[in-house]
Amino acid sequence: MSNRVDRQSTSSHPSQHALYPGSFDPITWGHVDIVRRGLEVFERITIAVARNIKKSPIFSFEERVEMIKETFADEPRIDVVPLAEGLLVDFARDIGVRNVLRGLRAMSDFEYEFQMASMNRRLTDDVDFVFLMTSEEHFFVSSSLIRDVAMNGGDVAEFVPACVNQRLREKFGVLSSPKSSSKG
Ligand code: PNS
Repeated sequence: MSNRVDRQSTSSHPSQHALYPGSFDPITWGHVDIVRRGLEVFERITIAVARNIKKSPIFSFEERVEMIKETFADEPRIDVVPLAEGLLVDFARDIGVRNVLRGLRAMSDFEYEFQMASMNRRLTDDVDFVFLMTSEEHFFVSSSLIRDVAMNGGDVAEFVPACVNQRLREKFGVLSSPKSSSKG
């Protein structure tokens, strides 16, 4: 493995610090729920935003980072960084993090997450994956569905933080009136 770990690069013990990587195009209440509950397990969470994602993003990397920062503006134990090019496990080791946090929604996520965690475990045993089950009310919410509904003029206000809803409305407009624009 090319990148060696600099254990001094993190201020807390590696097991108290988790990495939460993803595309976040855009961040939803489902992601927020996983992070907030993750903070009951870990002292710090670093959210790493993938710059280049396979699916063509509707939000630029900068926009996705801004919306996450805005969403967690009240939480000093969260930091938001770009996910470096290359392997996730190398990035985790480079920043001295042992635990990668992921959310799991019913069966739909299981196969993908199981494959990814298993492959990453083959690549290194220095990094492990910790899964939190998505809360029931967010079970069906995904960034891709949010994009699809918003692009087609639907109202997604109840599924995303207010700053995300605002940007989606600026990009696509909505046909229906927001039901819960006070959230987030
Ligand atoms: O939100 P997503 O799209 O499910 O996040 C996927 C992400 C960014 C976590 C995944 O694509 C990733 O880990 N990319 C880094 C490259 C890597 O390590 N690939 C091998 C995965 S086994």
